[in-house]
Amino acid sequence: MPQVTFHKGGKTFRDEVADGANLVVRAGIKRFPFPHLSYGCGMGKCGKCACRVLSGAEHLPPPNWKEEQRLGARLAAGWRLVCQLWLAHDIELAQDNAPTEDARCTSS
Ligand code: FES
Repeated sequence: MPQVTFHKGGKTFRDEVADGANLVVRAGIKRFPFPHLSYGCGMGKCGKCACRVLSGAEHLPPPNWKEEQRLGARLAAGWRLVCQLWLAHDIELAQDNAPTEDARCTSS
């Protein structure tokens, strides 16, 4: 079972999840990483679930078109949309300073 280490607000949370678990789905039924994980649509549209992958990125599939559209250049900095990830390996994530808007809309 994958072990998830989740950093937010200067705190670290850690738990095991089932193979193939989706963290946004879990949070939606009030299971770890609830209530710490911020998320919204669950469909790759809002970007609120964006996290920086600190370790374990090598086990993830390539970003899908929704992540490419929402995260853009932030993909190269290690950001992923966790609603689009089904975990099969250990992963360490951070959600501090998570972007909640599309990078193309942050000029104001
Ligand atoms: S929850 Fe909206 S993009 Fe992931």
